[in-house]
Amino acid sequence: GCIAAVLPAAGSGQRFGSDRNKLFAMLSGKPIWFHAASRLAARPEVGRIVMAISEQDEVDFRGPFAELVNELRIELVRGGDQRSDSVRAGLDAVADDKSIEFIAIHDAARPLVRDADLAAVFAKAAETGAAILAAPITATLKRVLNDGNASLTVDRSELYSALTPQVFRVDVLRRAYDRHRGRPATDDAQLVERIGHPVALVHGSADNIKITHPEDLRIAEAILAR
Ligand code: C5P
Repeated sequence: GCIAAVLPAAGSGQRFGSDRNKLFAMLSGKPIWFHAASRLAARPEVGRIVMAISEQDEVDFRGPFAELVNELRIELVRGGDQRSDSVRAGLDAVADDKSIEFIAIHDAARPLVRDADLAAVFAKAAETGAAILAAPITATLKRVLNDGNASLTVDRSELYSALTPQVFRVDVLRRAYDRHRGRPATDDAQLVERIGHPVALVHGSADNIKITHPEDLRIAEAILAR
């Protein structure tokens, strides 16, 4: 395989309201991060899996979870304070590997990405150099005016929410990160957009949720059971 998967897993998960990394929560008997990594590991294009973890989680990943980490041949690296620092650590880990042509960045908190969506976004990135999964917005969106006393409806027909994986040719992502000076960005595609490289959107399933709040675990269990 010529794709390296980079999984940022070093978040604190404050919104999850647990004193432990939410990624250790169990979904159908396995931790959330393991689901995310195993779906990527199942793709023939993926040759390496690098997961960025926090210093405080190291004892868990190298202790009780070491067997699961080894089962998927996951390489662990130290993440950082911002998600982009964690991604950069993953990127640095594969920098010298000439066999890697693409990087697929996937939130370790998205355990339900579908195999067909992975195949589609990998194929699009191979064609264009940069592609992400995205889902159409289903809500009716309002722009708040006048301190909430008036509103304007936003045309949602051209709006999508960004998912992961976000897949880039190595040189494109490297350039985007080299120019990144810490200006806030909520995904990696935004950094690539800033260097003027177009990012193609691939329609992905809305089942590919990010586990953020405890309720999301119930939803994920229901999706898995289907
Ligand atoms: O917090 P949120 O779930 O939006 O983060 C998305 C992903 O990025 C999670 O898998 C989280 O562990 C990871 N992350 C990271 N390093 C950070 C912040 C978030 O690897 N500093």
